[in-house]
Amino acid sequence: MVKNDQAQSISNSNMKKNKISASILAANFAILREEIKNISDSGADSIHLDIMDGHFVPNISFGTGIVKAIKKESRIPLKTHLMISNPEKYVDEFIKAGSDTIIFHQEAVIHCDRLIDYIKNKGVKVGISIIPSTPESVLQYIHKKLDEILIMTVNPGFGGQKFLSSQLKKIHNINLMTNNASNIDIGVDGGINPETLKKCAKNGANLAIAGNYIFAGSNYKLKVSELRKSFKS
Ligand code: DX5
Ligand code: ZN
Repeated sequence: MVKNDQAQSISNSNMKKNKISASILAANFAILREEIKNISDSGADSIHLDIMDGHFVPNISFGTGIVKAIKKESRIPLKTHLMISNPEKYVDEFIKAGSDTIIFHQEAVIHCDRLIDYIKNKGVKVGISIIPSTPESVLQYIHKKLDEILIMTVNPGFGGQKFLSSQLKKIHNINLMTNNASNIDIGVDGGINPETLKKCAKNGANLAIAGNYIFAGSNYKLKVSELRKSFKS
C-alpha cells in the first residue's frame, strides 16, 4: 500500500497547506547574507537550521551566533532543528536567537511531554523529529500537542544523502495517527527532491525540507516551485 508507485494517495484536505523549508546547511556560508536574501525571495515558507553537536550526530554545524545573524537578514520564519544531546539545556538560547519553531529529537529527551510544554509556554512553535530507526509509536501520546512532526528520511548528520524509501510507511502511519490534522505539519527531511517528495506527499507529508536540491545552482525560485508542484502531481 505504501510502496512507491502503489502509494495510497491520502487526501490532503484543503485546510492543510503544503510548505517548503530551505535547509541552510547547503548554502554558501561565505556569502550568507546574500543567500538569506535570495532564499527569502524564493517562495520558500521558512528557513530550516540544522544544529549538530558532534555527539548526537557525527558532525558539527553552527550555533546561536549564526542563528542570530540569520534572523537579522531573514524575512521568513526560522525553524531550528536541534540534532543535539540534552536539547533542554539549549532551547532558551535558540529561542533568544530568534527561532520561531524549535524541533528536538525524541531520541535525545527522556521527558518529551515536559519539553513540549516548556517550549510552547515560551510562545514558540514546537516539533519533534525521529530518526529512521525510531518507530512512529513513540509519538502516540504526544502528537496532539505538536505543531510539527519531522520524519528523518536520512540518518541525520549530513546534507546530500540518499533518501530512505523505508520511511514512506512511517509517513503514512503518522498521517493516520494524526488523522491528517490541519494543525500538525508532517515534514520530511533528507534527500528531498521533486521525485522523492512526490512519494512522501502521496503518503501524507505536507512539509518538505530540502537543502542540496534547492541550493545547487542559482535559481532558488525555480527549485522551490518545482518542489511545490510535486505536492500536486
Ligand atoms: C540532515 C539534516 C537535513 C539536511 C537536508 O541531518 O537534518 O536538514 O540539511 O539536506 P539535503 O536536502 O541535502 O538532504
Ligand atoms: Zn534538518
